[in-house]
Amino acid sequence: MKTVLFVSPGYPSEMPHFVRGLGEVGARVLGVGDGPERGLPERVQGSLAGYLRVPSLWDEAGVVEAVREWPAAARGVDRVECLWEPGMLLAARLREALGAPGLSVERTIPFRDKERMKRALDAAGIRTPRHLAARGQAAIWEAAERIGFPLIVKPIAGAGSADTHRVEDREELASAAAAVRHLEEVSVEEFVDGEEYTFDTVSIGGVPAYYNVAWYRPRPLVARTNEWISPQVVALRHPDQRALAGGVRMGYAVLEALGFESGFTHMEWYLKSDGEVVFGEIGGRPPGAHQVDQMNYACDIDVFRGWAAAVVAGRFEEPVRRRFNVVNVYKRAEGEGRIARIDGLDEFRRRHGGAIVWDNLLPVGAARRNWKQTLVSDGFLVLRHPDLATALAMADEFGSEVRLYAA
Ligand SMILES: Nc1ncnc2c1ncn2[C@@H]1O[C@H](COP(=O)(O)OP(=O)(O)OP(=O)(O)O)[C@@H](O)[C@H]1O
Ligand SMILES: [Mg+2]
Repeated sequence: MKTVLFVSPGYPSEMPHFVRGLGEVGARVLGVGDGPERGLPERVQGSLAGYLRVPSLWDEAGVVEAVREWPAAARGVDRVECLWEPGMLLAARLREALGAPGLSVERTIPFRDKERMKRALDAAGIRTPRHLAARGQAAIWEAAERIGFPLIVKPIAGAGSADTHRVEDREELASAAAAVRHLEEVSVEEFVDGEEYTFDTVSIGGVPAYYNVAWYRPRPLVARTNEWISPQVVALRHPDQRALAGGVRMGYAVLEALGFESGFTHMEWYLKSDGEVVFGEIGGRPPGAHQVDQMNYACDIDVFRGWAAAVVAGRFEEPVRRRFNVVNVYKRAEGEGRIARIDGLDEFRRRHGGAIVWDNLLPVGAARRNWKQTLVSDGFLVLRHPDLATALAMADEFGSEVRLYAA
Protein backbone atom coordinates (compact mmCIF):
# COMPACT_ATOMS: atom_id res chain seq x y z
CA MET A 1 0.00 0.00 0.00
CA LYS A 2 1.35 3.43 -0.93
CA THR A 3 1.47 6.20 1.64
CA VAL A 4 0.64 9.70 0.42
CA LEU A 5 1.35 12.77 2.52
CA PHE A 6 -1.29 15.33 1.56
CA VAL A 7 -0.71 18.99 2.42
CA SER A 8 -3.82 20.97 3.38
CA PRO A 9 -6.51 18.27 3.00
CA GLY A 10 -9.37 20.56 4.01
CA TYR A 11 -8.72 23.70 2.01
CA PRO A 12 -9.50 24.84 -0.71
CA SER A 13 -12.93 23.29 -1.01
CA GLU A 14 -12.00 20.80 -3.74
CA MET A 15 -9.26 19.15 -1.66
CA PRO A 16 -11.59 16.74 0.18
CA HIS A 17 -12.51 15.20 -3.19
CA PHE A 18 -8.87 14.54 -4.03
CA VAL A 19 -8.32 13.01 -0.59
CA ARG A 20 -11.39 10.84 -1.09
CA GLY A 21 -10.04 9.81 -4.51
CA LEU A 22 -6.75 8.70 -2.94
CA GLY A 23 -8.65 6.58 -0.46
CA GLU A 24 -10.68 5.01 -3.27
CA VAL A 25 -7.59 3.91 -5.16
CA GLY A 26 -6.26 2.24 -2.03
CA ALA A 27 -3.69 4.74 -0.77
CA ARG A 28 -2.94 5.33 2.89
CA VAL A 29 -3.36 9.09 3.22
CA LEU A 30 -1.68 11.21 5.88
CA GLY A 31 -2.86 14.80 6.12
CA VAL A 32 -0.85 17.84 7.23
CA GLY A 33 -2.56 21.12 7.93
CA ASP A 34 -2.67 24.03 10.31
CA GLY A 35 -6.32 23.75 11.28
CA PRO A 36 -7.87 21.44 13.88
CA GLU A 37 -8.69 17.91 12.75
CA ARG A 38 -12.26 18.37 13.97
CA GLY A 39 -12.63 21.23 11.51
CA LEU A 40 -12.01 18.98 8.52
CA PRO A 41 -14.99 17.90 6.42
CA GLU A 42 -16.27 14.46 7.43
CA ARG A 43 -15.39 13.08 4.03
CA VAL A 44 -11.75 13.93 4.72
CA GLN A 45 -11.68 12.60 8.26
CA GLY A 46 -12.97 9.27 6.97
CA SER A 47 -10.24 9.04 4.31
CA LEU A 48 -7.24 9.95 6.46
CA ALA A 49 -5.08 7.36 8.21
CA GLY A 50 -3.57 10.18 10.26
CA TYR A 51 -3.53 13.95 10.59
CA LEU A 52 -0.73 16.16 11.81
CA ARG A 53 -1.65 19.62 12.91
CA VAL A 54 1.21 22.08 12.61
CA PRO A 55 1.23 25.63 14.03
CA SER A 56 1.64 27.15 10.56
CA LEU A 57 2.00 25.79 7.02
CA TRP A 58 4.11 28.87 6.19
CA ASP A 59 6.92 27.87 8.52
CA GLU A 60 8.33 25.40 6.02
CA ALA A 61 11.33 24.33 8.09
CA GLY A 62 9.04 23.79 11.08
CA VAL A 63 6.65 21.62 9.06
CA VAL A 64 9.49 19.51 7.67
CA GLU A 65 10.81 19.00 11.19
CA ALA A 66 7.37 18.07 12.56
CA VAL A 67 6.75 15.56 9.77
CA ARG A 68 10.16 13.97 10.33
CA GLU A 69 9.24 13.39 13.97
CA TRP A 70 5.74 12.15 13.23
CA PRO A 71 5.49 8.40 13.96
CA ALA A 72 2.76 7.91 11.32
CA ALA A 73 5.21 9.00 8.64
CA ALA A 74 8.13 7.01 10.02
CA ARG A 75 7.36 3.96 7.89
CA GLY A 76 8.12 6.04 4.82
CA VAL A 77 6.21 8.27 2.46
CA ASP A 78 5.82 7.33 -1.20
CA ARG A 79 4.38 10.62 -2.43
CA VAL A 80 3.89 14.16 -1.18
CA GLU A 81 0.94 15.91 -2.81
CA CYS A 82 -0.37 19.44 -2.61
CA LEU A 83 -2.94 20.84 -5.03
CA TRP A 84 -3.08 24.25 -3.44
CA GLU A 85 -0.75 26.71 -5.08
CA PRO A 86 0.70 28.45 -2.00
CA GLY A 87 1.69 25.03 -0.58
CA MET A 88 3.61 23.79 -3.60
CA LEU A 89 7.04 24.81 -2.36
CA LEU A 90 6.39 23.29 1.05
CA ALA A 91 5.43 20.04 -0.70
CA ALA A 92 8.67 20.15 -2.69
CA ARG A 93 10.72 20.69 0.48
CA LEU A 94 8.95 17.76 2.15
CA ARG A 95 9.74 15.56 -0.88
CA GLU A 96 13.38 16.45 -0.65
CA ALA A 97 13.47 15.88 3.11
CA LEU A 98 11.67 12.53 2.90
CA GLY A 99 13.30 11.31 -0.30
CA ALA A 100 9.95 11.09 -2.11
CA PRO A 101 9.73 11.36 -5.91
CA GLY A 102 8.09 14.29 -7.70
CA LEU A 103 8.93 17.94 -8.32
CA SER A 104 11.95 19.25 -6.42
CA VAL A 105 12.19 22.77 -5.02
CA GLU A 106 14.21 23.90 -8.03
CA ARG A 107 11.64 22.47 -10.45
CA THR A 108 8.76 23.98 -8.49
CA ILE A 109 10.00 27.57 -8.54
CA PRO A 110 8.93 28.31 -12.14
CA PHE A 111 5.39 27.29 -11.18
CA ARG A 112 5.32 29.94 -8.47
CA ASP A 113 7.37 32.73 -10.03
CA LYS A 114 6.01 34.00 -13.33
CA GLU A 115 9.26 35.59 -14.43
CA ARG A 116 11.19 32.39 -13.81
CA MET A 117 8.50 30.47 -15.67
CA LYS A 118 8.70 32.74 -18.71
CA ARG A 119 12.47 32.66 -18.76
CA ALA A 120 12.43 28.86 -18.75
CA LEU A 121 9.85 28.82 -21.55
CA ASP A 122 11.72 31.44 -23.59
CA ALA A 123 14.82 29.26 -23.35
CA ALA A 124 12.76 26.38 -24.78
CA GLY A 125 11.54 28.53 -27.68
CA ILE A 126 7.94 28.79 -26.43
CA ARG A 127 6.17 32.03 -27.26
CA THR A 128 5.37 34.09 -24.16
CA PRO A 129 4.32 37.76 -24.05
CA ARG A 130 7.39 40.00 -24.23
CA HIS A 131 8.16 40.67 -20.60
CA LEU A 132 10.48 42.33 -18.11
CA ALA A 133 10.66 42.09 -14.34
CA ALA A 134 10.68 45.44 -12.56
CA ARG A 135 11.46 46.43 -8.97
CA GLY A 136 10.36 49.93 -8.10
CA GLN A 137 8.75 52.84 -9.92
CA ALA A 138 11.67 53.84 -12.12
CA ALA A 139 12.13 50.26 -13.28
CA ILE A 140 8.44 49.96 -14.19
CA TRP A 141 8.67 53.06 -16.38
CA GLU A 142 11.84 51.81 -17.99
CA ALA A 143 10.32 48.40 -18.69
CA ALA A 144 7.20 50.04 -20.15
CA GLU A 145 9.37 52.12 -22.42
CA ARG A 146 10.94 48.98 -23.80
CA ILE A 147 7.78 46.86 -24.04
CA GLY A 148 5.52 49.57 -25.48
CA PHE A 149 1.76 50.16 -25.09
CA PRO A 150 -0.65 48.53 -24.59
CA LEU A 151 0.84 46.52 -21.76
CA ILE A 152 0.05 44.60 -18.61
CA VAL A 153 1.49 45.21 -15.16
CA LYS A 154 1.02 42.27 -12.80
CA PRO A 155 2.50 40.54 -9.77
CA ILE A 156 5.25 37.95 -10.08
CA ALA A 157 3.16 35.48 -8.09
CA GLY A 158 -0.40 36.54 -8.72
CA ALA A 159 -3.71 34.78 -8.42
CA GLY A 160 -7.22 35.71 -9.35
CA SER A 161 -6.16 38.65 -11.52
CA ALA A 162 -5.45 40.61 -8.34
CA ASP A 163 -3.23 43.64 -8.96
CA THR A 164 -3.27 42.99 -12.70
CA HIS A 165 -3.58 46.18 -14.74
CA ARG A 166 -4.07 46.76 -18.41
CA VAL A 167 -2.27 49.95 -19.41
CA GLU A 168 -2.95 51.90 -22.61
CA ASP A 169 -0.86 55.02 -22.16
CA ARG A 170 1.43 57.02 -19.87
CA GLU A 171 -1.42 58.32 -17.77
CA GLU A 172 -2.69 54.80 -17.06
CA LEU A 173 0.86 53.70 -16.39
CA ALA A 174 1.18 56.34 -13.70
CA SER A 175 -1.88 55.04 -11.87
CA ALA A 176 -0.99 51.36 -12.39
CA ALA A 177 2.54 51.95 -11.11
CA ALA A 178 1.14 53.68 -8.05
CA ALA A 179 -1.36 50.86 -7.49
CA VAL A 180 1.37 48.19 -7.35
CA ARG A 181 3.64 50.15 -5.00
CA HIS A 182 3.05 47.57 -2.26
CA LEU A 183 4.57 44.82 -4.44
CA GLU A 184 8.29 44.28 -4.29
CA GLU A 185 8.53 43.13 -7.89
CA VAL A 186 6.15 43.08 -10.86
CA SER A 187 6.08 41.78 -14.41
CA VAL A 188 5.60 44.24 -17.24
CA GLU A 189 4.24 42.41 -20.28
CA GLU A 190 3.19 43.03 -23.84
CA PHE A 191 -0.63 43.02 -23.90
CA VAL A 192 -1.78 40.06 -25.96
CA ASP A 193 -5.13 40.60 -27.63
CA GLY A 194 -7.12 37.44 -28.23
CA GLU A 195 -9.29 34.68 -26.83
CA GLU A 196 -8.20 32.93 -23.68
CA TYR A 197 -8.23 29.17 -23.11
CA THR A 198 -7.00 26.66 -20.58
CA PHE A 199 -5.13 23.44 -21.11
CA ASP A 200 -5.66 21.33 -18.01
CA THR A 201 -3.96 18.00 -17.58
CA VAL A 202 -3.51 15.03 -15.33
CA SER A 203 -0.02 14.02 -16.33
CA ILE A 204 2.06 10.95 -15.67
CA GLY A 205 5.81 11.28 -16.02
CA GLY A 206 5.40 14.66 -17.71
CA VAL A 207 2.94 13.45 -20.36
CA PRO A 208 -0.81 14.22 -20.23
CA ALA A 209 -2.87 11.10 -19.56
CA TYR A 210 -6.03 13.21 -19.51
CA TYR A 211 -6.59 16.75 -20.69
CA ASN A 212 -9.28 19.38 -20.93
CA VAL A 213 -9.54 22.66 -22.82
CA ALA A 214 -11.81 25.37 -21.43
CA TRP A 215 -12.68 28.69 -22.97
CA TYR A 216 -13.05 31.80 -20.79
CA ARG A 217 -15.95 34.06 -21.82
CA PRO A 218 -15.02 36.85 -21.55
CA ARG A 219 -11.30 37.01 -20.75
CA PRO A 220 -10.66 36.81 -16.99
CA LEU A 221 -9.32 40.34 -16.69
CA VAL A 222 -12.49 41.72 -18.29
CA ALA A 223 -14.71 39.45 -16.18
CA ARG A 224 -12.93 40.54 -13.03
CA THR A 225 -13.17 44.25 -13.61
CA ASN A 226 -16.87 44.42 -14.59
CA GLU A 227 -19.27 43.37 -11.87
CA TRP A 228 -22.32 43.20 -14.16
CA ILE A 229 -20.83 40.37 -16.19
CA SER A 230 -21.79 36.74 -15.47
CA PRO A 231 -18.47 35.09 -16.37
CA GLN A 232 -18.50 31.74 -18.14
CA VAL A 233 -15.96 28.95 -18.26
CA VAL A 234 -16.74 26.51 -21.05
CA ALA A 235 -15.22 23.01 -21.03
CA LEU A 236 -15.09 22.18 -24.72
CA ARG A 237 -16.34 18.87 -26.00
CA HIS A 238 -13.82 18.90 -28.85
CA PRO A 239 -10.41 19.86 -27.49
CA ASP A 240 -8.82 18.09 -30.45
CA GLN A 241 -10.27 20.43 -33.07
CA ARG A 242 -7.81 22.05 -35.42
CA ALA A 243 -8.43 25.59 -34.12
CA LEU A 244 -7.06 24.62 -30.70
CA ALA A 245 -4.19 22.44 -31.86
CA GLY A 246 -1.54 25.15 -31.47
CA GLY A 247 -2.42 25.70 -27.83
CA VAL A 248 -2.56 21.99 -27.04
CA ARG A 249 0.79 21.39 -28.69
CA MET A 250 2.23 24.31 -26.75
CA GLY A 251 0.92 22.80 -23.52
CA TYR A 252 2.79 19.55 -24.14
CA ALA A 253 5.94 21.52 -24.88
CA VAL A 254 5.59 23.54 -21.66
CA LEU A 255 5.34 20.39 -19.54
CA GLU A 256 8.49 19.11 -21.15
CA ALA A 257 10.36 22.40 -20.83
CA LEU A 258 9.58 22.65 -17.11
CA GLY A 259 10.30 19.00 -16.41
CA PHE A 260 6.89 18.38 -14.93
CA GLU A 261 6.34 14.93 -13.45
CA SER A 262 3.00 13.51 -12.31
CA GLY A 263 -0.06 15.38 -11.15
CA PHE A 264 -2.54 18.06 -12.11
CA THR A 265 -1.62 21.10 -14.16
CA HIS A 266 -3.64 24.14 -15.19
CA MET A 267 -2.33 26.18 -18.09
CA GLU A 268 -3.70 29.35 -19.70
CA TRP A 269 -2.94 30.45 -23.25
CA TYR A 270 -4.05 33.08 -25.71
CA LEU A 271 -5.21 32.64 -29.29
CA LYS A 272 -4.78 35.79 -31.35
CA SER A 273 -7.06 36.64 -34.25
CA ASP A 274 -4.20 35.97 -36.68
CA GLY A 275 -3.96 32.43 -35.31
CA GLU A 276 -0.81 32.91 -33.29
CA VAL A 277 -0.78 31.19 -29.89
CA VAL A 278 0.92 32.78 -26.90
CA PHE A 279 1.47 31.10 -23.56
CA GLY A 280 -0.06 32.67 -20.45
CA GLU A 281 0.81 30.73 -17.33
CA ILE A 282 0.93 27.34 -15.68
CA GLY A 283 -0.02 26.16 -12.23
CA GLY A 284 1.04 22.78 -10.87
CA ARG A 285 -2.45 22.26 -9.56
CA PRO A 286 -6.03 21.99 -10.85
CA PRO A 287 -8.03 25.08 -11.80
CA GLY A 288 -10.37 26.39 -9.12
CA ALA A 289 -13.99 27.55 -9.24
CA HIS A 290 -15.33 24.00 -9.63
CA GLN A 291 -13.71 23.46 -12.98
CA VAL A 292 -12.72 19.92 -12.00
CA ASP A 293 -16.39 19.16 -11.42
CA GLN A 294 -16.98 20.64 -14.84
CA MET A 295 -14.52 18.14 -16.33
CA ASN A 296 -16.46 15.38 -14.60
CA TYR A 297 -19.74 16.56 -16.09
CA ALA A 298 -18.22 16.68 -19.58
CA CYS A 299 -17.55 12.93 -19.64
CA ASP A 300 -19.45 11.57 -16.62
CA ILE A 301 -16.19 10.50 -15.01
CA ASP A 302 -14.40 11.22 -11.74
CA VAL A 303 -11.26 13.24 -12.40
CA PHE A 304 -10.54 13.48 -8.65
CA ARG A 305 -10.16 9.70 -8.53
CA GLY A 306 -8.44 9.72 -11.92
CA TRP A 307 -5.79 12.07 -10.55
CA ALA A 308 -5.35 9.84 -7.50
CA ALA A 309 -4.73 6.72 -9.60
CA ALA A 310 -2.31 8.70 -11.76
CA VAL A 311 -0.11 9.80 -8.87
CA VAL A 312 -0.37 6.58 -6.87
CA ALA A 313 -0.27 3.92 -9.58
CA GLY A 314 0.87 5.80 -12.70
CA ARG A 315 -2.39 5.05 -14.50
CA PHE A 316 -5.36 7.20 -15.54
CA GLU A 317 -8.27 4.82 -15.65
CA GLU A 318 -11.37 6.97 -16.07
CA PRO A 319 -13.18 6.21 -19.35
CA VAL A 320 -12.92 9.54 -21.20
CA ARG A 321 -15.78 9.87 -23.65
CA ARG A 322 -16.42 13.51 -24.32
CA ARG A 323 -20.17 13.89 -24.63
CA PHE A 324 -20.90 17.46 -23.60
CA ASN A 325 -19.82 21.05 -23.68
CA VAL A 326 -20.15 22.17 -20.07
CA VAL A 327 -20.58 25.80 -19.03
CA ASN A 328 -20.09 27.15 -15.52
CA VAL A 329 -21.83 30.51 -15.31
CA TYR A 330 -20.95 32.54 -12.23
CA LYS A 331 -23.46 35.08 -10.94
CA ARG A 332 -23.07 38.40 -9.19
CA ALA A 333 -26.07 39.83 -7.38
CA GLU A 334 -27.13 43.45 -7.78
CA GLY A 335 -27.07 45.52 -4.61
CA GLU A 336 -25.35 44.87 -1.31
CA GLY A 337 -26.15 42.76 1.71
CA ARG A 338 -28.19 39.55 1.55
CA ILE A 339 -29.83 37.88 -1.41
CA ALA A 340 -33.41 39.13 -1.33
CA ARG A 341 -34.86 37.90 -4.61
CA ILE A 342 -33.99 35.77 -7.62
CA ASP A 343 -35.77 36.72 -10.83
CA GLY A 344 -36.18 34.60 -13.92
CA LEU A 345 -34.89 31.32 -12.51
CA ASP A 346 -38.21 29.46 -12.63
CA GLU A 347 -38.74 30.47 -16.23
CA PHE A 348 -35.16 29.47 -17.09
CA ARG A 349 -35.71 26.09 -15.44
CA ARG A 350 -38.89 25.52 -17.41
CA ARG A 351 -37.04 26.19 -20.63
CA HIS A 352 -33.72 24.48 -19.95
CA GLY A 353 -34.15 22.36 -16.83
CA GLY A 354 -32.76 19.27 -18.56
CA ALA A 355 -29.46 21.03 -19.26
CA ILE A 356 -28.87 22.14 -15.65
CA VAL A 357 -26.59 19.66 -13.91
CA TRP A 358 -25.78 21.73 -10.83
CA ASP A 359 -27.50 24.73 -9.28
CA ASN A 360 -25.16 26.24 -6.74
CA LEU A 361 -26.66 29.74 -6.56
CA LEU A 362 -26.80 31.35 -3.16
CA PRO A 363 -30.28 31.01 -1.69
CA VAL A 364 -32.45 33.92 -0.64
CA GLY A 365 -31.22 35.12 2.74
CA ALA A 366 -27.54 34.29 2.19
CA ALA A 367 -24.96 37.05 2.49
CA ARG A 368 -23.36 38.19 -0.78
CA ARG A 369 -19.78 37.12 -1.38
CA ASN A 370 -17.00 39.46 -2.41
CA TRP A 371 -16.98 39.10 -6.20
CA LYS A 372 -13.47 40.51 -6.44
CA GLN A 373 -12.13 37.80 -4.16
CA THR A 374 -13.91 34.73 -5.45
CA LEU A 375 -14.70 33.73 -8.99
CA VAL A 376 -17.59 31.71 -7.61
CA SER A 377 -19.21 35.04 -6.64
CA ASP A 378 -22.84 34.61 -5.56
CA GLY A 379 -23.01 31.10 -6.88
CA PHE A 380 -23.15 29.45 -10.24
CA LEU A 381 -25.07 27.16 -12.54
CA VAL A 382 -23.50 24.32 -14.49
CA LEU A 383 -25.16 23.69 -17.85
CA ARG A 384 -24.31 21.10 -20.45
CA HIS A 385 -25.25 20.27 -24.01
CA PRO A 386 -23.65 18.22 -26.79
CA ASP A 387 -23.88 21.18 -29.17
CA LEU A 388 -21.62 24.15 -28.38
CA ALA A 389 -23.82 26.88 -29.89
CA THR A 390 -26.81 25.62 -27.90
CA ALA A 391 -24.78 25.47 -24.69
CA LEU A 392 -23.50 29.03 -25.19
CA ALA A 393 -26.95 30.39 -26.02
CA MET A 394 -28.37 28.92 -22.82
CA ALA A 395 -25.48 30.27 -20.77
CA ASP A 396 -25.94 33.73 -22.28
CA GLU A 397 -29.66 33.58 -21.58
CA PHE A 398 -28.98 32.65 -17.97
CA GLY A 399 -26.52 35.52 -17.73
CA SER A 400 -28.95 38.12 -18.93
CA GLU A 401 -32.37 36.80 -17.86
CA VAL A 402 -31.70 35.44 -14.38
CA ARG A 403 -30.93 38.14 -11.85
CA LEU A 404 -30.11 38.06 -8.18
CA TYR A 405 -30.95 41.07 -6.06
CA ALA A 406 -29.44 41.79 -2.69
CA ALA A 407 -30.71 44.23 -0.09
N1 LIG B 1 0.23 39.76 -21.28
C1 LIG B 1 -1.10 39.75 -21.18
N2 LIG B 1 -1.85 40.10 -22.25
C2 LIG B 1 -3.20 40.13 -22.15
N3 LIG B 1 -3.88 39.82 -21.05
C3 LIG B 1 -3.19 39.45 -19.96
C4 LIG B 1 -1.76 39.39 -19.97
N4 LIG B 1 -1.37 39.00 -18.73
C5 LIG B 1 -2.49 38.83 -18.00
N5 LIG B 1 -3.59 39.12 -18.73
C6 LIG B 1 -4.99 39.06 -18.27
O1 LIG B 1 -5.03 39.06 -16.86
C7 LIG B 1 -5.52 37.80 -16.40
C8 LIG B 1 -4.79 37.40 -15.15
O2 LIG B 1 -3.41 37.23 -15.45
P1 LIG B 1 -2.66 35.92 -15.02
O3 LIG B 1 -3.39 34.74 -15.48
O4 LIG B 1 -1.26 36.05 -15.43
O5 LIG B 1 -2.68 36.07 -13.45
P2 LIG B 1 -3.40 35.31 -12.28
O6 LIG B 1 -3.73 36.40 -11.34
O7 LIG B 1 -2.54 34.21 -11.90
O8 LIG B 1 -4.69 34.72 -12.85
P3 LIG B 1 -5.67 33.63 -12.29
O9 LIG B 1 -5.28 33.24 -10.91
O10 LIG B 1 -6.97 34.31 -12.38
O11 LIG B 1 -5.51 32.55 -13.29
C9 LIG B 1 -5.36 36.85 -17.56
O12 LIG B 1 -6.28 35.79 -17.51
C10 LIG B 1 -5.62 37.78 -18.74
O13 LIG B 1 -7.02 38.00 -18.93
MG1 LIG C 1 -4.39 33.23 -14.73
